[in-house]
Amino acid sequence: MQRTFSIIKPDATRRNLTGAITQKFEDNGLRVVASKRIQMTTAQAEGFYEVHKDRPFFGELVEMMVSGPVVVQVLEGEDAVAKNREIMGATNPADAAPGTIRADFAESIGANSVHGSDSLENAGIEMAYFFNEDEIVG
Ligand code: CMP
Repeated sequence: MQRTFSIIKPDATRRNLTGAITQKFEDNGLRVVASKRIQMTTAQAEGFYEVHKDRPFFGELVEMMVSGPVVVQVLEGEDAVAKNREIMGATNPADAAPGTIRADFAESIGANSVHGSDSLENAGIEMAYFFNEDEIVG
């Protein structure tokens, strides 16, 4: 059993896709054990994506993440980190396999509907960034 961290991004909440995206997680064996809809501040988004701060797209990424509400979630299941990445599909929707969230819903590499942790270690760090222990209930 693993837990991973997910964000339903503003491009998706704007298009009322929170339920459709969550359904994909549940259909594929992941369980939502924490969830809240928040408006990220610029400082919060900059901190969350700090590893990307030297990338040319950093400003655009932060701007996108604060452009509307997001839904932050903790997903639990067998092999949850890898499974979530499979369900999301490739970062660039043009490369995402059919049936994945990004193939079905993403608009572009920037507006790609979801974020998911890329390792178990980062999953722990990322969920702690948005949730207290007592907000995660398995
Ligand atoms: P995410 O999984 O949230 O992690 C970093 C994000 O940066 C990534 O999804 C993309 O949405 C975004 N990103 C990556 N490459 C680019 C790019 N070339 N232009 C804009 N955004 C990008």
